[in-house]
Amino acid sequence: MTAVPTTLPVIGEGSLVGDDGKGEKPRLHPPAMVEEVLALLRVRELPAPRCADLTVGTGGHALAILSANPQAQLIGLDRDPQSLEVAKKRLAPFSDRCHLFHADMGSLRECLKQVGWNELDGCLIDPGLSLWQIDSGRGFSFFDSSLDMRYDPTKGPTAGQILQQCSPHRLEEAFKEAGETPAMARRITQAIVQERRHRKVWTARDLSDLIASIKTRKPAHLHPATFCFMALRILVNEEKEALRNGLETALLSVRPGGRVLVLCYQSIEDRVVKGLMRDWSRLHPDVPIRALIKKPLRPTAAERLTNPRSRSARLRAFERSGEGGV
Ligand SMILES: C[S@@+](CC[C@H](N)C(=O)[O-])C[C@H]1O[C@@H](n2cnc3c(N)ncnc32)[C@H](O)[C@@H]1O
Repeated sequence: MTAVPTTLPVIGEGSLVGDDGKGEKPRLHPPAMVEEVLALLRVRELPAPRCADLTVGTGGHALAILSANPQAQLIGLDRDPQSLEVAKKRLAPFSDRCHLFHADMGSLRECLKQVGWNELDGCLIDPGLSLWQIDSGRGFSFFDSSLDMRYDPTKGPTAGQILQQCSPHRLEEAFKEAGETPAMARRITQAIVQERRHRKVWTARDLSDLIASIKTRKPAHLHPATFCFMALRILVNEEKEALRNGLETALLSVRPGGRVLVLCYQSIEDRVVKGLMRDWSRLHPDVPIRALIKKPLRPTAAERLTNPRSRSARLRAFERSGEGGV
């Protein structure tokens, strides 16, 4: 794990250009449900809140938290060192009360130890993929000339390697879980297995073209490869395991009365959150947690209009009660 403030240089505008071959800057990710996040974390109410953003990305939510209260302090984690460079630049005006780490969300406790904090008042998890990463030319977009898809490009196999090595059963199950029908998941898997007999290297376009050639009846608003790209990205980054681990660590790291918020964009993430909550009292009987809101909050109509990508967001909030824990 690397503490960004000591290792990453302050970057210039030029560094924001992704290698997407278009020479255009990746777009900054517009944070979703910012007002709801600030209110539930009580950023304006608490005198000097200590918050953690476990998926700081390019720093949208972090910027809002640090701007909302001049005494707020924040630690931000992300697996993606390139996104962190952007966050570091955007958050430079707050560098005296902001610590950034190149780290998986499950490493929160080591990060807290590094900054000398025992516990947190609030924590935000906004998992998945950012708009900035879609534009970064790393295989998250259907037309990219690579098929990497790792949030952390220094670790683990790429999506292209997984596509070559993964068992057909695992691929098929992942496609189904992401939303393909069983029949379509099987057909796509069979086509990939057939194709990989002679293909050594995949680009994102190779994969999306292959899927588009199978899925001829296309829903109007979705690219035919949407579910398969999501499934592959989740496999590459082991996102289900990482989210469960990160959420558990977050809930154990907030003080009694502290809050953890999770923004989910799809049912796979939602199921991970609900699964951990179901198991919580058995795993941690001495750390009681309650859901602050019964039903997850959804973005307002006005936000869905100005930030259409927020439309599938669901915000859940949990509060730790009682004593005990770490
Ligand atoms: C939707 S973006 C977050 C955007 C951010 N809230 C903002 O306002 O800019 C999701 C981020 O989570 C990061 N991420 C995904 N899985 C992670 C993990 N296990 N640990 C840390 N970061 C992770 C991704 O690299 C990406 O930058």
